[in-house]
Amino acid sequence: MSLYAWTVVCGWAASQVAALLTCVISVLDLIWSVVAPRKGAPAPRVVLITGASSGIGKALAIDYASPGMTLVLTGRNMERLREVSDACDAKGAAVILKAIDVTDESGMRDWIAAVDTDHPIDLVVANAGVSEATAAVQNDPAGAARTILPINVFGLLNTVVPLIEPMKARGRGQIAIVSSLAGFGPITSSAAYSASKAAVKTWGEALRTELLCFGVRVNVVCPGFVRSPMTAVNKFYMPGLINMDEAIACIREGLACDLPVIAFPSFTYFLAQMSGALPVAAREALARLGVLSGLFFYRRGPKGRSAAAESAGSEGAASKRD
Ligand SMILES: NC(=O)c1ccc[n+]([C@@H]2O[C@H](COP(=O)([O-])OP(=O)(O)OC[C@H]3O[C@@H](n4cnc5c(N)ncnc54)[C@H](OP(=O)(O)O)[C@@H]3O)[C@@H](O)[C@H]2O)c1
Repeated sequence: MSLYAWTVVCGWAASQVAALLTCVISVLDLIWSVVAPRKGAPAPRVVLITGASSGIGKALAIDYASPGMTLVLTGRNMERLREVSDACDAKGAAVILKAIDVTDESGMRDWIAAVDTDHPIDLVVANAGVSEATAAVQNDPAGAARTILPINVFGLLNTVVPLIEPMKARGRGQIAIVSSLAGFGPITSSAAYSASKAAVKTWGEALRTELLCFGVRVNVVCPGFVRSPMTAVNKFYMPGLINMDEAIACIREGLACDLPVIAFPSFTYFLAQMSGALPVAAREALARLGVLSGLFFYRRGPKGRSAAAESAGSEGAASKRD
């Protein structure tokens, strides 16, 4: 057998053994998560939420609002932030508002440091984000990456990083990193979004182990499809689409129990895990067939061919002309 064939066979065998071990470890992990004594996280009194002017961030802010609670809310749209602030105020919470773009690194650092000095933050929810549809960059792969990654990845870092040292010094604090089930496997037509969510998921999981011994908890939140302004503009079928109140209940309970990864709903989580585990050849075969690829149904071209086949065809034709 050639060296190449050996490499392929050994690589395949190694991945199968790894998959089997992962199954065994997952079962042990499940048993441990049920029987292990969990301290959970103390109830936060000061909560910073980015992307609080809409969707999940807005609903979470209103849900946390109660007497004695201080909510530090940001977004870019001050008008919508004020509406959220009024709703929180009506429930007895103190609210600090700031209209700021999460990509403004120095602005975020200075503002967060100032707020944290006056009101030490117990919980930060790094939630602000955009998708291909909300950023209106659907048919522009390079533009999508250049627009989405700075907000979803670096905007999240700009939110979390200024709080790491102060929380470590206090020996307490909680950091919720809003990723997505898209972080588990690439999604057709959402390459930049999937990449951004995979990046923050991995970063968050690593950060959790790094900060564990300093008393700082890090939780990665991976929602499936939730009814919000973000999903309202999607034109494709969204399996397992859930209502906002279900999502908020899952996030709050997951944070209170200090779950490392808060992934929901279960069926979409299963689909996402399967999608991530699909061998590349199987993913490509499904894409060619024009059926399920990743989590989405593949959009077909005008003559029943898949969109990928259409664009590959036209690119091929163009290169032939050249
Ligand atoms: N909805 C879902 O199905 C779903 C599923 C998985 C993960 N998620 C994640 O959950 C988070 C919230 O999603 P959502 O459904 O609530 O979306 P949404 O309704 O579109 O809200 C997005 C929020 O992010 C803020 N934002 C966007 N770009 C920003 C920027 N550059 N600087 C500051 N704030 C910015 C927006 O504020 P302004 O409009 O004021 O700028 C808005 O408050 C996102 O990270 C998303 O990826 C959502």
